[in-house]
Amino acid sequence: MSALGRFLLSPPACRDLGTLRRAVAGHTILVTGASSGIGAATARRLGEAGATVLLLARREGALGAVAAQIRAAGGQAHLYPANLADPAGVQAVAGRIQAAHPRLHAVISNAGRSVRRRAQDGEATQDLPRLLAVNFSGPAALLLALRPALAAGGVVVNVSSVSARHVGAPRWSAYQGSKAGFDLWLHAAGAEWPRVRVASVYLPLVRTPMSAPTRAYRFLPALSADEAAQAVLWPLVRPVVRAAPWWLRGVELAGLLAPHALGRALRVLERWEAGQGGPA
Ligand SMILES: NC(=O)c1ccc[n+]([C@@H]2O[C@H](COP(=O)([O-])OP(=O)(O)OC[C@H]3O[C@@H](n4cnc5c(N)ncnc54)[C@H](OP(=O)(O)O)[C@@H]3O)[C@@H](O)[C@H]2O)c1
Repeated sequence: MSALGRFLLSPPACRDLGTLRRAVAGHTILVTGASSGIGAATARRLGEAGATVLLLARREGALGAVAAQIRAAGGQAHLYPANLADPAGVQAVAGRIQAAHPRLHAVISNAGRSVRRRAQDGEATQDLPRLLAVNFSGPAALLLALRPALAAGGVVVNVSSVSARHVGAPRWSAYQGSKAGFDLWLHAAGAEWPRVRVASVYLPLVRTPMSAPTRAYRFLPALSADEAAQAVLWPLVRPVVRAAPWWLRGVELAGLLAPHALGRALRVLERWEAGQGGPA
């Protein structure tokens, strides 16, 4: 993407490897959802910068492929296969992580799932409980269990979405609700944790396996996974609490000043998307 495109789309980002290396070399950093997309790109970049990267996701084979790329580039990576939707599995993996790495310097809470379906239709398919488990209760339980490893000080980065902050959009209720709920929970819980800084990065559209099935998104501008990873790493090099594209404040203001007009615009967008072939 061009420099202008990145300026228009991206939250602030750490593009310089030397700056990242000075911040994270020698640190131990857990990345959840490291088997794919933004998490895999973030883990590779951290490995390149000299961090020991702990990779968590369900698919062990895919995690192994990311670990092999990190090691081939001279970095260090360890696999922690786990399902965040399984409460017992979350406790078990937190125990394994802390037994091997008693001190964590950062956690990148990135694993997530999206479903795009009307709330009423999603009831039958349990969209809300499924997304809450992966996007909210699982990551929350993991962080609570990992608190001892962060007690000496660290950073928790929440990989969130611009959609967690603007007005509700049709067909996104389970995704927006779970992402916004976790974000608020994390900042409230983080306020109780001395020496831990909590930061959220609100990403716009990113080309990954998550966004690929939505046909209409192919026509919209998007970050690559590597560009998104550079934004995710910004809170590791600057003491920010929230990082978002500059235009998000304008959207939030529009939601406050003209909620009906914004709601109508979102419904028009939904109809346009349906005209492009609808949700895949
Ligand atoms: N793509 C976008 O446009 C976009 C925009 C804004 C924010 N985000 C956020 O960015 C984050 C990463 O998304 P992505 O686009 O990179 O998607 P992705 O390529 O689908 O990656 C999702 C990751 O989450 C892991 N995951 C899913 N369910 C899990 C579970 N139950 N337990 C453990 N790990 C699980 C997946 O690994 P396994 O399948 O191996 O478990 C995978 O590594 C998400 O939190 C998403 O909400 C994405």
